Amino acid sequence: MKTKTDVDYLFEPRAVAVIGASQNTAKIGYRVVENIVRRGYKGQIYPINPKGGEVLGLKIYPDLSAVEGDVDIAVITIPARFVFDAVKECAAKHVKHLVIISSGFSEVGNAEEEREIAAYAREHGMRVLGPNIFGIYSSAVSLDATFGPGGILPGRVAIITQSGALGIAMIGKTAAESLGLSVLVSVGNKSDIDESDLLEYLANDEATKVIFLYIEGVKDGDRLVEILKRVTRNKHVIVVKAGRSKRGAMAAASHTGSLAGADEIFDSIMRQCGVLRAENVQEAFDWARFLADVPFPKGKEAVIITNGGGIGVMTTDACEKYGVDLYDDQAVLKETFAPVMPSFGSSKNPVDLTGQATAEDYERAMEAALANDDMHAVLSLYCETALFDAGELVPVLRNEYQRYKGKKPIVFSLFGGEKVEIITSKLRKEGIPVFADVYDAVSCLGALYRSWHNSNTPADEPEEIQIDVLAVEAILDRAREDKRGFLLAGEAQQMAKVLGLSMPRSILARNLDEAVHAAEKIGYPVVMKVVSKDIIHKSDAGGVALDLVNQNEVIDAYQAIMRSCREYKADALIQGVEVVEMVKPGVETIIGARQDASFGPIVMFGLGGIYVEVMKDVAFRAAPISRREAHAMVSDIRSYPLLLGVRGEKRKEIDGIVDVAMKLGALIDRCRDITDIEINPLVVYEHGQGVKAVDVRILFQTTREVR
Ligand code: ACO
Repeated sequence: MKTKTDVDYLFEPRAVAVIGASQNTAKIGYRVVENIVRRGYKGQIYPINPKGGEVLGLKIYPDLSAVEGDVDIAVITIPARFVFDAVKECAAKHVKHLVIISSGFSEVGNAEEEREIAAYAREHGMRVLGPNIFGIYSSAVSLDATFGPGGILPGRVAIITQSGALGIAMIGKTAAESLGLSVLVSVGNKSDIDESDLLEYLANDEATKVIFLYIEGVKDGDRLVEILKRVTRNKHVIVVKAGRSKRGAMAAASHTGSLAGADEIFDSIMRQCGVLRAENVQEAFDWARFLADVPFPKGKEAVIITNGGGIGVMTTDACEKYGVDLYDDQAVLKETFAPVMPSFGSSKNPVDLTGQATAEDYERAMEAALANDDMHAVLSLYCETALFDAGELVPVLRNEYQRYKGKKPIVFSLFGGEKVEIITSKLRKEGIPVFADVYDAVSCLGALYRSWHNSNTPADEPEEIQIDVLAVEAILDRAREDKRGFLLAGEAQQMAKVLGLSMPRSILARNLDEAVHAAEKIGYPVVMKVVSKDIIHKSDAGGVALDLVNQNEVIDAYQAIMRSCREYKADALIQGVEVVEMVKPGVETIIGARQDASFGPIVMFGLGGIYVEVMKDVAFRAAPISRREAHAMVSDIRSYPLLLGVRGEKRKEIDGIVDVAMKLGALIDRCRDITDIEINPLVVYEHGQGVKAVDVRILFQTTREVR
């Protein structure tokens, strides 16, 4: 028998108290007791109300201390102002979990009391779900302790929602869609228990095969990433996140920050974790219902069977969009399907049975595809025709589905009039994956393939990257003595050295003579940049000169820089200029890392120049990252083919980018007082010729925080 953890008792309580249980059928305190009783909860039920009496045949206890047995969870349905006292009573009774339905806490500005309750509960060995939630449903013990409409079907899908109202609406919706649930829970204000705690339980819950998370905002994202990576190894995890807009992105401290719409980060990190992101709740429901019953495919190649060329073509498009490969061995296709179709049909994939196809033709074609081990999934499409009654298809689809559902993924799409719609809805109610739109059907198959790919990819751990944290902190500390939260050019050079990044050669020159010598030493062409802690935006101040090819140009540029900088800021303390090797052109990329408000340390990569400014072609990962994840991040950007080499160009130094990404990931993870790192540009040369960090910018807190 498995030993129960903390959270187990939340989902498998042996006894439930309802504090605020009411005889008044209009009250939430009545609805909760009613749902618990009607659902057939297997444990003890203790309604609590100082008025006493009976509700639904159960004795009402005046208070918790009057209850003789132990209580695992207390569902609290009394006004906010009485909640803390009730929590104290729960502590005295050694209750394990508090499910606080009551509103009136941080969501209306009463954060202080909410914090106090959560802290008090933890001190007394209790965990808090809520407040401001609709309750909890758990099929393990047939518990519906919500004030929802009832009628939840037991099943294999767990739903965790941040929105209570949406959660309640989902109760009815799941029942209408015949979607069976193992768990339904809202996290509300997340004063204590959050999605990560719930995922810990669900990871080991045998009844749960699919987890659907509705999220609005992420707190404590590094923990969520860690647990999601684990859970997606053996469960399908689907997420819908509201708020795709840029609002909520952290204030941009650097260029990298300004690019980082919160949603793009969320999207990249969910992919990193193997989570399937659905566009909306309907898509999530479609996926959840499909994934709950379907086996993993044995391979990548699907077959489309259709009676209409048009929907066949559309489905082919949808397969490309959702990453579903089509079986393509023409000889085998002909051999398999020619005997079961009219002579004018097409056995190419899509297999077109033509508008003349009968229900028997469908049956024979599906049977041929389903029985062939090299055809790994079947998409069966039907366009209504006048030649046979669509109703004749029902037993065919049902039989084929029942026979093969444990063995091979099958999805159906039926398109037509009222009769077809009735059939579709009837088969869906039976749990058969039938869709009106081919895109919806293929989207389900695409989700399955992504999940399959994820679970087939061996788990990997970021390799240990050696970072000399003491040397890093020493550089930061010297800047802090100067009351700076950013590095000057020379310090950035030192940092690059500590990290083992290749930067252009550079020499600090304090006067014109030194500048000329430095240029001679480095070799032409050179770049010259002003060095002053009072001038951060050097180009704006006229403090940068590029492509200086001889001594005269160096002299002219030096004088011009000094003049413009004085005009820009008369009292600026100018230490001199930095003379830098002018780097050879290559592919300009941008690579950065920062502390994200939601996910903690993250790494970012994109193509530089106009790509980053206009096209925002960037990808993110939660740090630290493994070599494989770093590669995945680099290949995620739309312009990745440029790095692979287009039009006869050679492949670029992708491994060099990966190395830099891993180093920045390790640095931002280990040194949490560094808030932003940006290398812009990181110039990438042909394979074998390395990468060069032209400009390294680092922002950090002026007070130290070492982990
Ligand atoms: N112990 C036990 N019972 C008590 C106690 C106590 N300490 N104090 C009061 N009670 C009883 C009351 O006497 C009453 O019983 P009665 O009907 O026999 O008189 C019962 O508990 C409920 O108390 P009321 O004062 O009647 O409160 P009411 O039921 O109107 O409201 C509630 C309580 C539902 C918790 C309300 O304050 C609230 O927060 N509502 C919002 C809930 C919500 O929406 N949560 C988020 C869900 S998610 C979403 O967004 C949909």
